[in-house]
Amino acid sequence: MPLNHAIVLDNRPQGHASVDNFKVVSAQTPALQEGQVLVQHHYLSLDPYMRGRMNDSKSYAAPQPLGEVMIGGTAGEVVESRHPKFKVGDQVVGMGGWQNYSVVDGHAAGMLRRVETTHVSLSHYLGAVGMPGVTAWYGLVKVIAPQAGETVTVSAASGAVGSAYGALAKARGCRVVGIAGGPDKCDYVVNTLGFDACVDYKEHSDYLSLSKALRQACPNGIDGHFENVGGMVLDAVMLRTNAFARIAVCGMIAGYDGAPLPMTHPALILVNRLKIQGFIVSEHMEVWPEALKELGQLVGSGQLRPRESVAQGLAAAPEAFLGLLKGKNFGKQLVKLV
Ligand SMILES: NC(=O)c1ccc[n+]([C@@H]2O[C@H](COP(=O)([O-])OP(=O)(O)OC[C@H]3O[C@@H](n4cnc5c(N)ncnc54)[C@H](OP(=O)(O)O)[C@@H]3O)[C@@H](O)[C@H]2O)c1
Repeated sequence: MPLNHAIVLDNRPQGHASVDNFKVVSAQTPALQEGQVLVQHHYLSLDPYMRGRMNDSKSYAAPQPLGEVMIGGTAGEVVESRHPKFKVGDQVVGMGGWQNYSVVDGHAAGMLRRVETTHVSLSHYLGAVGMPGVTAWYGLVKVIAPQAGETVTVSAASGAVGSAYGALAKARGCRVVGIAGGPDKCDYVVNTLGFDACVDYKEHSDYLSLSKALRQACPNGIDGHFENVGGMVLDAVMLRTNAFARIAVCGMIAGYDGAPLPMTHPALILVNRLKIQGFIVSEHMEVWPEALKELGQLVGSGQLRPRESVAQGLAAAPEAFLGLLKGKNFGKQLVKLV
């Protein structure tokens, strides 16, 4: 059986996470039992939610246990199988974690999904045609529920979730405006992803200045907003919301290291009769098939061309993950393992 390298959570961060929170361990992969499948991971997905799991605090999901392999989505290939439904060479997506191989119970529902890579590359099943894409779909379709002609916005617009959101909103006839950090990301959001406009929040030192820029980009106000960041960005957007606007709260990455993110004008919730709803995509498995179908068509047809930041080799995962939390990624953050 092949030797497996894995990254475990060694200790919990105090404030900012660091590479010292992680440790590499190695062991032989065990011999397969009946019904099990051995998967070699080609790609590991790095996602902001992992930062929350590193804390031992109350949240919507249990903390990552110390000494265990870091949780994570993986895409790879079956290299050995004792399950009738999976054969060697199948391309599969699962939750294999930060390691080169995983042994999966092929009978357990939802643990391993076979994917077709003719029109959609394997790595996109961890991004636009995977959990981040479905997240964008749920927030847009089920929370914001836009009408054609409405203006919708999204923060972290160049990222895995934000880029899928743009394509989904354009397909529904919306004016789509992104908010992203830096001229290169904004240029990509407009010229490659096809957003109508993008505002670079790094050009603004306070929410009032950012809000003025949003007024220019959204002359008819904002009807729907998808929040990935929190803090100054959300404050600026709220000032530009129309009556009965909907805000899907997907992430608050600006506060993932524990800093409080106060809301400057909560009275706007009343004044503008806002609907503000948080959601967790894994609690809405019923929408995944419909969402994945649409996302697969958008990527397969080239209407959505998601960008990827790819770190090389398992040992690069901690540094790449910390970079993701600081916006060093440009598109879906992955680690290439093979
Ligand atoms: N609710 C759910 O079920 C669910 C599921 C998946 C993801 N999420 C959330 O969705 C959000 C996006 O996830 P993703 O995987 O698509 O990541 P991503 O957007 O590909 O990468 C994270 C981006 O966040 C931005 N960012 C980081 N720190 C920031 C800060 N302090 N202020 C402003 N922007 C900051 C950076 O973009 P800029 O350089 O443009 O700032 C960075 O590139 C995250 O908040 C994540 O937790 C939620």
